[in-house]
Amino acid sequence: MAERDSAWRLVSVNLIHNRFMLRPPYTRYHQLHVYYLDRRDLPPVEDPDLIGIWIEDETAILFFHREKDMLIQRICGQCGAAIVYQACLDYRDWEAGVTVTSFCTATLHVRPVWEASGPGEGDKTEIVLDPSVIFGSGFHATTRLCLETLESLLLDPERRVKSVLDLGTGTGLLAIAAARLGAERVVAVDNNPLAVEVARKNVDLNQCRSVVQVEQVDLLADLPATGGYDLVITNLYKGLLVHLFEQEAFWQGQVYLVSGFLPGMEAELLAALPPGMVRMLHRGGREQWRLWLLQRDLHARRSWHNKG
Ligand SMILES: C[S@@+](CC[C@H](N)C(=O)[O-])C[C@H]1O[C@@H](n2cnc3c(N)ncnc32)[C@H](O)[C@@H]1O
Repeated sequence: MAERDSAWRLVSVNLIHNRFMLRPPYTRYHQLHVYYLDRRDLPPVEDPDLIGIWIEDETAILFFHREKDMLIQRICGQCGAAIVYQACLDYRDWEAGVTVTSFCTATLHVRPVWEASGPGEGDKTEIVLDPSVIFGSGFHATTRLCLETLESLLLDPERRVKSVLDLGTGTGLLAIAAARLGAERVVAVDNNPLAVEVARKNVDLNQCRSVVQVEQVDLLADLPATGGYDLVITNLYKGLLVHLFEQEAFWQGQVYLVSGFLPGMEAELLAALPPGMVRMLHRGGREQWRLWLLQRDLHARRSWHNKG
């Protein structure tokens, strides 16, 4: 049984690799047919309408361009899975009611793959993105806050940000932006296998594979070494931020771009910062979301073990 499960997992992962992006006849996302199953190890899903499969804890979430009730029944019959939930929604609703379209920052022009490139933004650096069903289209307030702050950091000649670690990269937009804005080494991680595949394809779409490396990592289990990075980006959620803040290993980078929290969460996050070891450089906000720019205090004499 274990052998069969691991073989299925392998096949599923390989299939995900080639099946998540827009492929003919699809040129954009319209309807999403979403099926939540109570198992993560599924038999191979061979279907031209498959957008991708999220694995979340013990759940597999399958996204299709079309209704797939028969196929899902068959998969459930094969592996003993049950449907926990199913829905059909507009892509716009999945993207929190926003139409994903091109947008600009001071120097970047971010364009979804389904829009043709035009001459309009000639002086800007273009990023092409297939956001698929992954967080990071650029339209969430936290992504935009991070993108704009990242841009000003990378364009500031005094800062010399050359290496970037993006923890929870989603579509890879921030990692790709860092590369396009001049970073020489970018490592981007996410625990969601579909996010990793989407980010890798976006890296390829933007021809920055020599700079950006994308890896599947669960930050709760395996924190990548932050030492040697000029900038660490964490657009995550409060519980995970608190977990990271409380670890000495997290604080080996130079500057930290932190977002993914609301004003009511700030007190708890502030309390989790190592006292005397981190300086607040900037606090920003957009809609109800907040961003902090932190710097590890290189002159802090206090040892981690004496904190508190
Ligand atoms: C709020 S999204 C940010 C995505 C992108 N960086 C952006 O700014 O738009 C957070 C990302 O963190 C990832 N994530 C959540 N928990 C994680 C964990 N334990 N380890 C690694 N990544 C995680 C999610 O899969 C998601 O892609």
